[in-house]
Amino acid sequence: MSDLTSSGAWTSLAAHRDVLGEQKISDLFQSEPDRATRMWIENKGLALDYSKNRASAETMRLLFALARARKLEEWRDRMFEGEPINGTEHRAVLHSALRAGSDQIIKIDGDNIMELVTAELDRMKNFVHAVHEGRWRGYSGKPIDTIVNIGIGGSHLGPQAAMEALSAHAVPGIRTHFVSNVDAHDMAPVLAGIDPETVLFVIASKTFTTQETMTNAMTARRWLVAKMGGDEGAVAHHFVALSTNARAVADFGIDSRNVFHFWDWVGGRYSLWSAIGLSLALGIGWENFSQMLAGGRAMDRHFQAAPLERNMPVVMGLLGLWYSNFMGAETYAVLPYDQRLDRFVDHLQQLDMESNGKRVNREGAPVDYTTGPVIWGRTGTNGQHAFYQLIHQGTRLIPADFIAILKADHDHLDHHRILLSNVLAQTEALMIGKSTDKVLADLLAQGLSKEEAALLAPHKSFPGNIPTNSLLLDRLDPFHFGQLLALYEHKVFVQGVIWNINSFDQWGVELGKVLAKTTLADLSGTGPITGHDPSTNHLAMIMRQALDG
Ligand code: F6P
Repeated sequence: MSDLTSSGAWTSLAAHRDVLGEQKISDLFQSEPDRATRMWIENKGLALDYSKNRASAETMRLLFALARARKLEEWRDRMFEGEPINGTEHRAVLHSALRAGSDQIIKIDGDNIMELVTAELDRMKNFVHAVHEGRWRGYSGKPIDTIVNIGIGGSHLGPQAAMEALSAHAVPGIRTHFVSNVDAHDMAPVLAGIDPETVLFVIASKTFTTQETMTNAMTARRWLVAKMGGDEGAVAHHFVALSTNARAVADFGIDSRNVFHFWDWVGGRYSLWSAIGLSLALGIGWENFSQMLAGGRAMDRHFQAAPLERNMPVVMGLLGLWYSNFMGAETYAVLPYDQRLDRFVDHLQQLDMESNGKRVNREGAPVDYTTGPVIWGRTGTNGQHAFYQLIHQGTRLIPADFIAILKADHDHLDHHRILLSNVLAQTEALMIGKSTDKVLADLLAQGLSKEEAALLAPHKSFPGNIPTNSLLLDRLDPFHFGQLLALYEHKVFVQGVIWNINSFDQWGVELGKVLAKTTLADLSGTGPITGHDPSTNHLAMIMRQALDG
């Protein structure tokens, strides 16, 4: 047994789970009348109600004891202080420094990295202003009105999700596109709809070696040069790069003055706050981008300063772990009730699953407990008419976060009232369910015969007791979006610390990348394909024939 599962804190929780059993959340509201106020945490316009969870005051006490036993506060401080807690890559984890503010001093190996951060943010700011004020122009002298971000994973999902979330703050006259997939069905329609004289391609890649991004960037470059009559001089006016790999950017042919830098202590899925946020900053303006950083900073301060019992990321991390490790939940749903947060779920999926999808602990030993859950979801109310059925009446336990925005950015108050009423109705229905006896009584009252009612009742009853968090944001503006994103980043961190895994590497994506080199050679070759298993050989031959035919 591992240190974790044999620890007193863990075994106490397992014993407590057996005592708590199927205790109803609604009964907990009877025995703990202060739940709704006690299980409420608020920080600068972002609030968490976690009272609708299968967790009593005693459950929470034991979970906080687990966090303390796993030295969560020490790990948190080590992260913020720049210690190399990403052990397999010997790197610090300092995305928080990107939003810390220029008055801070944060050192790695004795050097104050805030000087670098501030200088790069200033370069980004100047560039964004130059584009918006028409001082940065395309090759033919026209101002830029279209941004095409080319990146994938962390160099795509965060900027795209944020741009969509903050669409109410978009700079008038600037259009943004995001291309990620190597499938040219992603790139081709974008190229077909833009003007080469007014476009800026933003090539976003931490490593500047990622196959998809490099392929898309080359295609964009060829397209631009062809449109400019073969004049390579156009590239310097229409391409900028966001990367940690200055040499590879130079090899690609992007002028070093057009490169915005970040550093190896920024993980890809945590990089929106860095130069990777440039497309977003161009799309929403520098003031709004700065507000998003301020929101992230506000959540950092909350995470660092609030006692564990009043700490949002800690509470959310611990509850998620309670369901994964002690109640058998395999997935976790994120259900935002704002259409603009649809892609935010995709970003959270990468954030969580690439960070905590690990099967060995920091020391390399296999874990004997489950780690990161499957994260999925979709905006309400659409999801209600798609997959909520399974949450309500399926056989699996699916805990969920409901995210609601109090003030909308449109004038249709009637819509917003209906939207918010659905958040309330769903979280309430998931908790209280409807017993077979109650269904039976209702059916009889409606005039059904006893036989008909008995047949129908099991289908119409709901077990309930499905746990939810409700997150309320005052508004979906840059500040509150920044807070929300940083909240989830820290939730992932909390869970990684307790599981004793490295949340900041991602070796699992490497094998497929390596094999793709061989399979690409196969599809580009001529002789028989024999180097794989029979299925792969056969599929590869069919594909090559289609490509060559
Ligand atoms: O999917 C693996 C990954 O390395 C992500 O972590 C990263 O965000 C993405 O690929 C893109 O990498 P890069 O920014 O280096 O192109």
